Amino acid sequence: MEFVEYADAEMMMLDLADKIAGELRSALGNHDSVSLAVPGGTTPGPVFDSLCGAELDWARVNVLLTDERWVPEDSKRSNTALIRERLLTEKAARARYLPLRADTGQPEEALDGLAAAIAPHLPLNVLLLGMGADMHTASIFPGADRLGDALSGDDLLVPMRAPGAPEPRVTLSARVLRDAMSTHVLIVGPEKREALERARRLPPEEAPVAAVLPNAIVHWAEA
Ligand code: 6PG
Repeated sequence: MEFVEYADAEMMMLDLADKIAGELRSALGNHDSVSLAVPGGTTPGPVFDSLCGAELDWARVNVLLTDERWVPEDSKRSNTALIRERLLTEKAARARYLPLRADTGQPEEALDGLAAAIAPHLPLNVLLLGMGADMHTASIFPGADRLGDALSGDDLLVPMRAPGAPEPRVTLSARVLRDAMSTHVLIVGPEKREALERARRLPPEEAPVAAVLPNAIVHWAEA
């Protein structure tokens, strides 16, 4: 894991949007289509605002979420709503979006179909991740039930429940995160400092998944 500390979060996010656009552009030079996975949460909004205007052949870019809440798409808790508003707009409106959610049923019933839809787009060309103050990444929560399923095995997607949250979620598994060609972890805010320091100190078998991804670059700014 590479660790880069920035003095200014705004500059960091502009820089990161440029890096991601550059990586997608160069991957498009070698592939008919490429894949970009992005997290929900509040932090990456400014990255999306800048990335959505990048000059790219977006029609050949497949966009997916790292994790999604099993709620209607127009719910405030839906990560899809966020990326539709901030990322899949301007030039990026031409990208193809691969949802991690179905309109009916429970995650367990829809999982095979959703996994079959993303499988042809793996390994991910570019992966952007966040990390919560409880050290969760995507929806892989330290200590949650199904943690073992998310961290081991061949499944691409794992149903997960965030501790204390009302609805189920679907998350990319650690296998999918580990196999990505390029991984950026975006961490901003004083409330995340302690979590980040703890994550870096823990031995690999106890560390959160963001700290043990082989290709990951952690981009950190306190404010
Ligand atoms: C989600 C995310 C999650 C997120 C972290 C950080 O919860 O939907 O995909 O993994 O990246 O919770 O979230 P913030 O950026 O809001 O702190």
